[in-house]
Formats: sequence, structure tokens, C-alpha cells
Amino acid sequence: MTTTTQDDAVPRHVAIVMDGNGRWAKARFLPRLMGHHRGVESARKVIRACSNAGVECLTLFAFSSENWKRPEDEVSGLMSLFMSALERESVALFRHNVRMRFIGDTSGFPTSLQEKIQQVEAMTATCNGMTLLIAANYGGRWDVLQAVRKAIRDVTADGMAADMLDEDAFGRLLVTGGLPDPDLFIRTGGEKRISNFLMWQLAYAELYFTDVLWPEFDEKCLHEAFRDFAQRQRRFGMTGEQIAGGQHA
Ligand code: IPE
Ligand code: IPE
Ligand code: MG
Repeated sequence: MTTTTQDDAVPRHVAIVMDGNGRWAKARFLPRLMGHHRGVESARKVIRACSNAGVECLTLFAFSSENWKRPEDEVSGLMSLFMSALERESVALFRHNVRMRFIGDTSGFPTSLQEKIQQVEAMTATCNGMTLLIAANYGGRWDVLQAVRKAIRDVTADGMAADMLDEDAFGRLLVTGGLPDPDLFIRTGGEKRISNFLMWQLAYAELYFTDVLWPEFDEKCLHEAFRDFAQRQRRFGMTGEQIAGGQHA
């Protein structure tokens, strides 16, 4: 319910590519959708663990803009799964004071799911514990493009000088605007790629890759990632000596 005190070892913003559901299922001769079902359980555990650890913001990659290319039955199965997971979990999230937001072009989803998303966002809008971002029909390039479009509109409609657009102003136009950039990026499932996740926002994230498949990822695995993160020296372009001497970016 409440968050513990934040210490240096705990990243403020954690972003996770929840990968490996299909391979988990295949290894057990189960349909891929069973892997996604188990993946929802992992997400539930990790959301709770992050909230308890004092993480301010957790972003979960649930469906990429490229995942539409999957077989139709997998896509429709995922849509039903998102719907049932929201129906089942949203009240518990609200009780845990978790503010839930969806980032991505959700206009491509079934109307009933879009309505559910709006309802959950409205219900948890005043929660001031952890912010949970669900990246659904999200693509990093789409995010940058929609920000560019907004910027062009601001320049033409409000007469904003193009030169006034700096990194901070541009960052506010992204769908994560107002939130800190991810400190720790985790990808399960063994692949070492970003797959069009938060491209701009990950510029200085610490990257952590694990072979553990998402359905097997639990609180213990999460804390292992946090321990690894705590060992990193984040230099943001400075020297190790500057950082050791207490300078901050
Ligand atoms: C990630 O697991 C979940 C989604 C993309 C929705 P995958 O379904 O990509 O699992 P693998 O990579 O096939 O094992
Ligand atoms: C990335 O996983 C998207 C999600 C986890 C939702 P994919 O499994 O779709 O990524 P690629 O296609 O292997 O790079
Ligand atoms: Mg995958």
C-alpha cells in the first residue's frame, strides 16, 4: 500500500520489455497465449514489488506497434487478455495508490478496450503512489513523430520560434512528458535489442538483459537487476573522478 523510502539502489523509473512469453509456452508444448497469460501474472508481481520498493515510475512494454504483424488469433487473444487483466486488476491497483496511464496509439484497439482504458486512467488519476505506464501499441519512432507533429503545430499556430524547442521542451511533447527518463531498462527473454521502445527517453538508461523468460521473472529477479543497477557508475559524460567527487549531471 505505502512505498518504502527511496534509496540510491532503487531506480526512480524502471522500463521493462517483457519478452519470452511465446518461448516459455513453446518449451511446454502449450499455445503461445498461455505464455501471455502467465506473463500477466509476472506483471502483477513486478508491479507490486516495484511499488513496495519505492519505484516512482514503472513502464511495461505490453504491445508494440509492430506486434500487429503477429497471427490474427494471437493479436485478438492479446486484446482479450488486456481487457480481462484490466477488469481483474484495476481496483487492486487503485487500492495500492497506483496511477495507471497508457502510452501508445490506443485508438487502434477495440472500442470496448479503449473505453476500459479511459475508465481505469480516470479512476486512478488522483493516485499519487507509483505511476504505472503501459506501453500499448507503442513505438519509439511513433512517439518521436507525434512529438514532432505537435512541435510543428505549435510553431505554425502559436508562432513559437523553432529555436525555442530545446531538449526539455521536446521531452515534454513525448507521451512520457513530465516524467523522469528511465534509469533502468530491463529486457527479459535473452534478446539484446530495444525493439522500438522508448528511444529518446532511454538515452542514458542503464541497460540490463537477462535470459530469464518473462513468465519466470519474479521479485527475486527484479532485485537482482536492482543490485546490478546499484553497482553501475552513471557518468552522464563526466569522468569517474568527477562523479566520485560528488558532481551531479
Ligand atoms: C512478449 O513475449 C509479449 C509480447 C510481445 C506481447 P513474446 O510473445 O514476444 O515471446 P517470444 O519472444 O515469442 O518468446
Ligand atoms: C517487444 O517484444 C515488444 C513487447 C515486449 C511487447 P518482441 O518480441 O515483439 O520484439 P522483437 O520483435 O523480437 O524484437
Ligand atoms: Mg518476443
